[in-house]
Amino acid sequence: MARVLLLFGGRSSEHEVSCASAVSVHDALIDGGHRVIPVGIDREGIWHLIEPTFRPFTTEGREVEMSVPSGDLHVAENRIEFDVVFPVLHGPQGEDGTIQGLLEACDIAYVGCGVLGSALAMDKDMAKRLVHAAGLETTPWVSITREMWDNDSDSVLQSAQSRIGVPAFVKPSAQGSSIGISFVDAASDLADAIVAAFRYDSKVLVEKAVDAREIEVAVLDGPKASVPGEVILTSGFYTYDAKYADGSSRFEVPAELSDSASKRVRILAEDVFAELGLTGLARVDFLYDRVSRRFLFNEVNTLPGFTSISGFPKMWLASGMTYAELCSHLVDAAINRHEERRRFAVR
Ligand SMILES: Nc1ncnc2c1ncn2[C@@H]1O[C@H](COP(=O)(O)OP(=O)(O)O)[C@@H](O)[C@H]1O
Ligand SMILES: [Mg+2]
Repeated sequence: MARVLLLFGGRSSEHEVSCASAVSVHDALIDGGHRVIPVGIDREGIWHLIEPTFRPFTTEGREVEMSVPSGDLHVAENRIEFDVVFPVLHGPQGEDGTIQGLLEACDIAYVGCGVLGSALAMDKDMAKRLVHAAGLETTPWVSITREMWDNDSDSVLQSAQSRIGVPAFVKPSAQGSSIGISFVDAASDLADAIVAAFRYDSKVLVEKAVDAREIEVAVLDGPKASVPGEVILTSGFYTYDAKYADGSSRFEVPAELSDSASKRVRILAEDVFAELGLTGLARVDFLYDRVSRRFLFNEVNTLPGFTSISGFPKMWLASGMTYAELCSHLVDAAINRHEERRRFAVR
């Protein structure tokens, strides 16, 4: 049994998704015999102790403070004891290494990737650079910084058109849930799409749009890959609404792949996990090019959607692990990793 500080919400455009994931993780941890301290981070960044019987989770409740660097957690005068943090935070300010850095500085055990792995995985441009440098295939892309765009947008556009062309996907480098992403079919729409993506980040990617199946693999320490799953869309691409709202997508697991293709993508997912130096968990997403029949690395999520109907837990379910076992496994791995780190020599 561990005392788990469940952190969710956050100052991210994926705030609601995080609240939904947290309900499922909360219940699974209770099923697994753990004690849970649910703390919701509101949109201003304030931490609140929430009442877990109120569903869906919100981020309202008595204010909680964590002292740095002691890592002590207080509600008013009372100190709350815990053993490990389970951050169910998606997107910037949670999945990107910032919370992980805070927890490292306070010498606290936490579930998931460390600072570097989280930061690399959050930045699609950096993740693709490393995966590409390791000799794995990715979708062709160019990255554009705000400075490049402000200095000379015409030559940036020209270069994106000649190197990538249309159709293309334009996306902020560090976002999630398809926020700020556009599909661009006509070259004349490229500039508007780039400007739209710059609303969310100071670096934007223009990527070749591939006609592909979306194959995902869940990975745990080892690295150990689950059976692959597939996002099946009835129309368009995997937008925010398709992910959460309008029912135009479903997740099929196991993905309908030949044994050899399934094995190939599992190995690729493990390679990505290792190349990016990830720990704990990750969902590695591929585009399976219908023409070349090759798996192209798209992106990696180090705190993927975690509701009981999300892809990550579903893939482990199909691989023979219950949701409660998965959550307990992640908590144990976090505690072990923290103990290992503590054994490093300091001089
Ligand atoms: N290069 C691409 N080719 C085809 N479809 C893409 C491409 N890039 C993104 N997409 C579509 O857009 C969706 C969201 O893009 P993704 O890079 O996964 O960002 P997010 O982090 O928001 O999930 C994908 O699930 C897919 O449907
Ligand atoms: Mg995605």
